[in-house]
This record gives sequence, structure tokens and C-alpha cells, in this order.
Amino acid sequence: MRNNKGRKKIGKIGVKCGLAMISCLLFAVPLFACRKTPAEPNNPELLLGFSQIGSESAWRVGNTTDIEEKAEEYGISLMFEDANQKQENQIAAIRRFIAYKVDVIAFSPIVEEGWDNVLTEAKNAGIPVILVDRDVNTSEEGLTACLIGADFYSEGVKAGEYLIRKADALGLEQVNIVEIAGTDNSTPMRQRQAGFKDAIAGDERMNILESIDGDFLKSRGAECMRTFLEKYGDEIDVVYSHNDEMTLGALPEIEKAGLKPGEDIIVISIDGGQDAIDVLKSGKINCVVECTPKLGKEVMETAIKLKNGEEVDAIIHPEEQVFSDEQDLTNLAPRGY
Ligand code: AHR
Repeated sequence: MRNNKGRKKIGKIGVKCGLAMISCLLFAVPLFACRKTPAEPNNPELLLGFSQIGSESAWRVGNTTDIEEKAEEYGISLMFEDANQKQENQIAAIRRFIAYKVDVIAFSPIVEEGWDNVLTEAKNAGIPVILVDRDVNTSEEGLTACLIGADFYSEGVKAGEYLIRKADALGLEQVNIVEIAGTDNSTPMRQRQAGFKDAIAGDERMNILESIDGDFLKSRGAECMRTFLEKYGDEIDVVYSHNDEMTLGALPEIEKAGLKPGEDIIVISIDGGQDAIDVLKSGKINCVVECTPKLGKEVMETAIKLKNGEEVDAIIHPEEQVFSDEQDLTNLAPRGY
């Protein structure tokens, strides 16, 4: 199995875009949101097919907006497809991008497995593929050009390190943790879980009671929290949630159970969208590890390089920070998602 660590760089491909562009403009409207933007002289007619997972979170919506805005800024024609949280829709979208002979394909894979066939088809068509946000696990090397996305493992480590500091500050002797995990088999779920576990592994106070798949959805976050409260009640010291949406779903359930989030239960979230930051400031969330959705600039610049046959970095991680009750967040700039 390969992941981004074994990814090879691939160079220029021999695809052309004239016919594809005409096809797109004439026939694609029912299939794509085909967003034609004026081409700049140094970047003529780059056609980028982008398959987005869906709109499950403020993070995802912010990511879509950023990709659209940056495509326009860079004069790149964007063929955008929303997969409505279904892998089969992403596979079908990538096949349509291949049929239209786009210059570059970019997509955010909902899960890591199941991409070998369609990525081999893209490779055989000579179209380079950029992974945006999440990784894939394939049986062959070199099916994708690069990965542009967060270091999810490091996010999990930061969450675990915050918890150790918080437990020290409160003088806790035993720390019972429930984990609301992201979509099963997705990169952020796997790596945020692994990073967190590794960070707390050497601390004997830490005890993970249970982890449940919350699918990155607010409604599922609430369901998971209800289940945890029914099972463990006030034994729970910490909720570690893999994204803001699930955290925001869980908080009212904690309050309905007569407990105070942020005081009776330590709440740790990931993403750093405006809503979660506002709740952090109000004291009901203790820590939010940033995961930025603003990947559009790197995606566009990488797509241009690939079209020009230039080498690209195999992995690009954005810089990210931690926001917590250890800091004064009064002057924090608006988050933009
Ligand atoms: O892959 C990034 C994750 O996906 C974000 O944390 C989450 O909010 C989104 O749905």
C-alpha cells in the first residue's frame, strides 16, 4: 500500500485543452458547475477538474469558496463537482474529468481506499492528479502527483499535548476521555486519532473510554455525545472531537445532561472555524487546534506547474496553530470560515 510518503513526482503530460474547453462550455452545464474565468497571458486556458467531498462542515464550505476564489484569481477554468459525501460520485466525477481531457485533476478523497482503478485511468490518460486535503492508499506508486493538505497527525499531537497541560494545571489524577471521531477510514480521522493517542501514551492518567465515528457531522456529534453520556455519565472528563461541527453538536447534549462544557468536561476540537472560536471565547470549549481550509493558492500554483511540466513538492502542509483557554484571544482576527 502507498501513501503520501512513497509518492513520486510526475511531470508534464501531453493533454491539451482546446477541444475539452469547447466541450465543457457547450455540453457540460448539466453535469458540472463549469466556472470559466478569464485566462491570464502567462497561464492560458488551464482547465482544472475539482471533485469536492460535499458540504458537511463550515471547514468544507470555506475550502470550496477558497478554491473557487483562487481559481478566478489565477485565471484558471474550474470544473467543480460536489460529491454529496459519496465516494462513487467522486469516482464518476474523475471519470468525467478524464473524458473532457482536463489539464489537471484535483480532488479531496472522502476515504483513503478504493481509488486504484480511477487513478490508473487518469495516469493512462496522462492527466496529473493533485490530492487536496486528504490522502489515498493505493497499491501502486506514482498515481498522484502530490498532496496539499494539513498535517493531521500533528493536529492530534497538539490536542494531546494541550490535554496534558490542562490536566497538570487542574491537578487531575485520572482523565477519562471520549473521542468523537471523523469519517471512518478518512485521513483526518486516522491521523488525528493516532497523533492524539501517541501524545498521551506516556501519561498514565489518560484513559480513552471509547471512540465513536461521528462522520464529521453536527447531528452525529450530538448522537455520539448522547451515547457517551448514557453509558459513562459524569465519569467523562474530556471530549476529544475531530472537528468543530461534531463539537458544536455535542455541547448542547452535555448541557442537557446537567453538566457544564468547558468546566465539568474539558472540550477539545479541531478546525478553528469562527463559530467554534466564538464558543471557545465563551468558555464552553477549552481548546481548538487549527486546520485551515485555505488551500486554494497552493492548489492553483501546483496545477500551473504540473501543466508546464515542472517538478512539484510531493507534500505541502500549511502552517497551523492552537487556540485555547491558555491565551488571550480578544484580538484574534476573523477566521473567514
Ligand atoms: O478533511 C478535513 C476535515 O474535513 C475537517 O476537519 C472537517 O471539518 C471536514 O469535514
